[in-house]
Amino acid sequence: PKVLILHGPNLNRLGKREPEIYGTETLERLDARLRTKGEELGLKVETFQSNHEGDLIDRIHGAEGEYDVLILNAGAFTHYSYALRDAIASVEVPVIEVHMSNVHNREPFRGVSVIAPVTRGQISGFGVVSYELALTAAASLGQQVQ
Ligand code: DQA
Repeated sequence: PKVLILHGPNLNRLGKREPEIYGTETLERLDARLRTKGEELGLKVETFQSNHEGDLIDRIHGAEGEYDVLILNAGAFTHYSYALRDAIASVEVPVIEVHMSNVHNREPFRGVSVIAPVTRGQISGFGVVSYELALTAAASLGQQVQ
């Protein structure tokens, strides 16, 4: 199975950005770790980061027929982007929502995810491990379709 991991706005700043919340690992190192974890699970993992809503939407549309599962950390778009929500709803490919921080114990606006209703599930609060858990979930979804 092929998995695309999409990182949204400001995640290119990982390692420097609010390290007390998001840790000290850079995005480059995180992506390398996730490709390795994917291999262990029998998944081919590709990654993409953008600060632009439209670029993320284009990648979601383009995932159809190309990937079996999408893992999406939409960053702050999570909380207000109906356009991302509609993009997810427009494709058949299952989407797993990921957050490094626990979005439910921070500012109240982060507790709202407008994309959650159109995703298969949400993993939140485990730092880089949130993405690894999402890969484990992606592998299990792959087994369900086979
Ligand atoms: C985030 C949580 C969001 O509220 C925030 O805007 C981010 C990162 C997370 O991974 O914890 O950019 O999605």
